[in-house]
Amino acid sequence: MKKVKLGVLVSGRGSNLQAIIDNIESSALAAELAVVISDQADAFSLERAKKHNIPAVHVSAKGYKGKRDEYDALLVKELRKHGVELVVLAGFMRIITPALLKAFPNRVMNIHPALLPSFPGLHVQKAALMHGAKFSGCTVHFVDEGMDTGPIIIQAVVPVLDNDNEDTLSARILKQEHKIYSRAIQLYAEGKLKVEGRRVLLTDGRTSTDDHLINP
Ligand code: GRF
Repeated sequence: MKKVKLGVLVSGRGSNLQAIIDNIESSALAAELAVVISDQADAFSLERAKKHNIPAVHVSAKGYKGKRDEYDALLVKELRKHGVELVVLAGFMRIITPALLKAFPNRVMNIHPALLPSFPGLHVQKAALMHGAKFSGCTVHFVDEGMDTGPIIIQAVVPVLDNDNEDTLSARILKQEHKIYSRAIQLYAEGKLKVEGRRVLLTDGRTSTDDHLINP
């Protein structure tokens, strides 16, 4: 099977990137990391990529304040240069513009540490805790022009425990992030994701609830 070429956009520590690298190296994920791009020169993610001989590129946002589409055009150029088919946002702390989305229609994925559409935006593990939610989790979705609003591919659910704090809840969620991001990419690689309006359906006859996990 042809391996799908990934371009991963990152800003920070890159634990999701690491999970993807590990799953590719163990052949659990039929993909190839064509390039890792960061807007932050000192992102630890770039070190992780280099360690695995993956092209690691810093695309500085300096001088692009208020010109997000121009910055995204730089990203498109870099992604195309490396033959990227699927763009994977993994802790990329910038809002994506149509300049990138039009170049990769329904081919940009993101992971979010809450059960969308609840708790979009930032610091969402704390928000779920403060709200008193009994369950939270993570969501892999296709990116559209809104903030965390695109069609949902997979979600995993975790309980919120009475003695949780932001760190313990975040860690429980992160463990699931590391599983479902690769799973979503694998489904894409196998050509099994069909987007119908807001819904992402699995074309192999399974119901996508098979992929919705409750994880203690
Ligand atoms: C993750 O919690 C992800 O859901 C969010 O940003 C965080 C990135 O973490 N979008 P890491 O850099 O992958 O460790």
